[in-house]
Amino acid sequence: MPPSPTITVDINQSSLNAAADEPVLNISELSKSYVMGEVQVDALKGVSVKFYAGKLVVLLGASGSGKSTLINIIGGLDVPSSGKLFFHGREITAATEAELTAYRRRSIGFVFQFYNLISSLTALENVQLVTEIAEHPMSAKEALLLVGLGHRLDHFPAQLSGGHCPRYRQAA
Ligand SMILES: Nc1ncnc2c1ncn2[C@@H]1O[C@H](COP(=O)(O)OP(=O)(O)O)[C@@H](O)[C@H]1O
Ligand SMILES: [Mg+2]
Repeated sequence: MPPSPTITVDINQSSLNAAADEPVLNISELSKSYVMGEVQVDALKGVSVKFYAGKLVVLLGASGSGKSTLINIIGGLDVPSSGKLFFHGREITAATEAELTAYRRRSIGFVFQFYNLISSLTALENVQLVTEIAEHPMSAKEALLLVGLGHRLDHFPAQLSGGHCPRYRQAA
């Protein structure tokens, strides 16, 4: 069985406030098993954890320990085999497809390990694509300036270095 991931919470005490008493995310007894033919992989086994506002959380674990599985479930991209996930007290594991879409669009931000950039669009156009579905987007140019890519607006993904691509994703 893969070892359980370790969850490290870096608490900035000064950011604690009354609202922080309630977790933003409350994960209760989450399990996920993948069945492939006769083989079953238990990727998550009864994970319970709470995440609070204003705190930075680092998820550490050996390769195969279930980090991506947990993050995909938190992000509404995958569903658990059992257990519950609450976002601000609302049960995401009981949400309809439409509610899940709204949750992913409004409440979750992903920076993908593999960049998911559209190769035929420039940096500016890739970021603009996302601002079209966001509710209160900042301008694409402003977002690229913020991550230090203001001078690369017209560059295509292939013209950006490996180090630039994640920043470019962050802007999006
Ligand atoms: N779609 C899948 N089908 C079958 N097994 C999977 C699938 N996704 C992940 N797993 C298995 O679940 C376990 C946890 O995987 P994963 O969450 O990707 O771990 P990590 O991100 O920590 O490397 C691994 O044993 C992996 O092989
Ligand atoms: Mg992973």
